[in-house]
Amino acid sequence: MVTEGLKGRDFLRLQDFSKAELETMLELGLQLKADNTLRRRHDDLLPRRTLFMMFFNPSLRTRNSFEAGIFELGGHAHFLEPGSTRLPTLEGEDVGYASERISDMARVLSRMGAALSIRILGDVVGWEYTKSFRIIQEFAKWSHAPVINMEDNIYHPCQGMADAMALWEMFGKDLRGRKIGVSWAYASGPKKPIAPHHDFLYMASLFGADVVFSHPPEMRIDPDIEQDIKNNVAASGGSYRVSDRQEDAYENADVVYTKNYVCLDLLPPVTDKPKQDEMMKLFGNYKHWRATVDNMNLAKPTAQYMHCLPCERGAEVDDAVLDGKWGEACYNEAENRLHAQKGVMAAIIP
Ligand code: CP
Repeated sequence: MVTEGLKGRDFLRLQDFSKAELETMLELGLQLKADNTLRRRHDDLLPRRTLFMMFFNPSLRTRNSFEAGIFELGGHAHFLEPGSTRLPTLEGEDVGYASERISDMARVLSRMGAALSIRILGDVVGWEYTKSFRIIQEFAKWSHAPVINMEDNIYHPCQGMADAMALWEMFGKDLRGRKIGVSWAYASGPKKPIAPHHDFLYMASLFGADVVFSHPPEMRIDPDIEQDIKNNVAASGGSYRVSDRQEDAYENADVVYTKNYVCLDLLPPVTDKPKQDEMMKLFGNYKHWRATVDNMNLAKPTAQYMHCLPCERGAEVDDAVLDGKWGEACYNEAENRLHAQKGVMAAIIP
């Protein structure tokens, strides 16, 4: 367990932390989960600390897990939805009285609160791939308090932490010898982020799983993150294989994680504007990429299904998978948003 060097840090990307630091925050989160089970209070950990939560996109899990989590640690969550603040802007993008420079917002809010958290992605930034993370980095640059990334176009580190906690609970923290199948899945709309896939793959590879990732050839992930995944398996003793055959992710798997995500090659900066009609035509070629009972029956009899949620039932995954014997891990994963983020907050918020 790492006991020094976490207080005051931003939580922007999993890649900013060592494996030992991530393990520490997960272990703290599991201790707090055990406390909750025993109805043992721990509201002396962050007493009277305010977390400002800025959401520029909808949320069920992230908002409510942070709000419940900081309350259970003794603090308070303040929810800021779009329209309740002006639009945060980078230098050169100010729009009269409709926007506010991030350098000002960050310095003001961090004089009032103990931490800032931000979700910004997708339509709000015109699907420009790196822009939402640059906005969060700009908040972190100017904030006096830690900044927590609640999802941008590239990263969803809080989801990655909850995913890892769910995997640990099934298999222990050494995932070597476990096959984790990961797959792209069909959806009827072109707006599902790729960030949860990135951070699920990062965590599964960090802890040594044998990862098999199937996706249609057009549905690549970020090459920098793919390199991180390869580095992780080289260090952890796991393996990473990519396939364009859906069944490869399912066959003999201990866990199958599937989700739809956008086609990066039909979004800026690869294209000048989002090509969502083309994306839907492309997705139409892969309607059969879905977590069905037949596909799940290719996995081990004890296999579990994971999805970060929200999911599109009947498109990405069938009811019988989520509501049948395979679905428990998915809801453990969702619950663990609370416990994993409490571990993060307890560790980094001064
Ligand atoms: N998985 C996740 O981040 O869910 P929400 O969008 O509901 O927060």
